[in-house]
Amino acid sequence: MPTITFATEKKEIQVPDGANLRQEALAAGVALYPGVHRFVNCHGLGQCGSCRVLITKGMENASPKGLLETARLAVSLAYIGNEKTMRLACQTKVHGDITVETKPPLNLFGENFFS
Ligand code: FES
Repeated sequence: MPTITFATEKKEIQVPDGANLRQEALAAGVALYPGVHRFVNCHGLGQCGSCRVLITKGMENASPKGLLETARLAVSLAYIGNEKTMRLACQTKVHGDITVETKPPLNLFGENFFS
């Protein structure tokens, strides 16, 4: 069984192979959505982009990005500089151990944004 480690929350959960990252996080009580997006989101349809997370370890154990997810992330400022680690939790299936950072900050003035 794959293990999801939520780094910020310091929580580990075991999930079945192919589990949906968003559903498992919410079931485990992990606060996936920032601010008002807790109530206003697309409920896993891959449209709002508010469930974005960074997979800091084990990206190879996550399902590949689909067209919808790729397109949604491409229009997000937060994606800049995080192309290799950012995923939409609702579009990610877990096939092995991963470490997840929820609610990644928007780093407009960081070294990656204007470089
Ligand atoms: S819940 Fe809206 S994109 Fe994932």
